[in-house]
Amino acid sequence: MSKSYNIAVLGGDGTGPEVVTEGVKVLQAAADKYGFKLTIEDFDFGGARYIATGEALPDSASDELSKFDAIFLGAIGHPDVKPGILEKGILLRLRFELDQYINLRPVKLYPGVETPIKGKGPEEIDYVVVRENSGGIYTGTGGFSMKGTDHEVATQSMVYTRHQVDRCLKYAFDYTKRRKKRNTLGLVGKTNVLTYVFDLWERAFNEMGEKDYADIQRDYYHVDAACMWMIKNPEWFDVLVTGNMFGDIITDLGAITQGGMGIAAGGNINPEGVSMFEPIGGSAPKYTGQNVINPLAAICAGAMMLDTLGETEAAIAIEKTVMEITSTKLKSLAAGKMGYSTTEVGDLIAENLK
Ligand code: IPM
Ligand code: MN
Repeated sequence: MSKSYNIAVLGGDGTGPEVVTEGVKVLQAAADKYGFKLTIEDFDFGGARYIATGEALPDSASDELSKFDAIFLGAIGHPDVKPGILEKGILLRLRFELDQYINLRPVKLYPGVETPIKGKGPEEIDYVVVRENSGGIYTGTGGFSMKGTDHEVATQSMVYTRHQVDRCLKYAFDYTKRRKKRNTLGLVGKTNVLTYVFDLWERAFNEMGEKDYADIQRDYYHVDAACMWMIKNPEWFDVLVTGNMFGDIITDLGAITQGGMGIAAGGNINPEGVSMFEPIGGSAPKYTGQNVINPLAAICAGAMMLDTLGETEAAIAIEKTVMEITSTKLKSLAAGKMGYSTTEVGDLIAENLK
């Protein structure tokens, strides 16, 4: 009997619904070709629903979504809603409640895609960032006191537990081993200033590496220097692991080196539970409804989802087809400059799936 997967689709805001439609188109084409079945259920979480109901996410959402095999998300963020409400109320809340403690973000330059880094090509830009996704400043304690006065105090602290650090490192070491590229895991931190939090990370990193992953080389970079090397010598990197905030920042930098937000995909992964896959580019309100946004990031997120579900062959086929289309068809990855519409790019991938 062929395998069957139930997928929750959250189109979300802005161009999110347009790109997930193309993602689902490609996933269905892959399912037909590789002999598995996908059952899709749509959810309307996002800005429009919040404006209409005053509720970002129903309390039942996580329970309901945890019954699916995976979640496919478009984008969250609406120009008419104050920043933070939807991001925290939907995206971050789902990541935390579903304990998707890994954010997996490949930085890979596809053939035919222009990078702003002079002299570097697909050979040099091909690494993966494992971003811790459940803790750090994102969930640390904080608040205001004496708000609105000259003496106002605001705090937001970086808090990590050994448990959070260990489970993230274990995933990163295992991932490096599975990737079989250069068997090198680099920790990105700030041990020269954040002498508590990154001391914990570094100790845990070295202890785990020595004990269980002797065959994996360990490197360490301060986050500021890592930003520099990501531009100057991206070929040094195989897998990088870091905390939530640094991971957020360096993966936007990584994304621009691989051709921008039109191509950058990410997976919010709970290795023991349900994971959520998304293009990392955001809702791009100014391009909404114009059929010009690049759906490849969503399509690549769909491929990551299939890989995580165990449909590796189909995932590889999608990625290969994306490479073929970037190298032979698309003029650019930027919205409105691809030489094709959003739906045409989806069709190209679905029809050429090998
Ligand atoms: C990302 C985004 C989110 C984050 C925002 C929208 C909350 O920037 O997925 O990288 O900071 O994690
Ligand atoms: Mn981000």
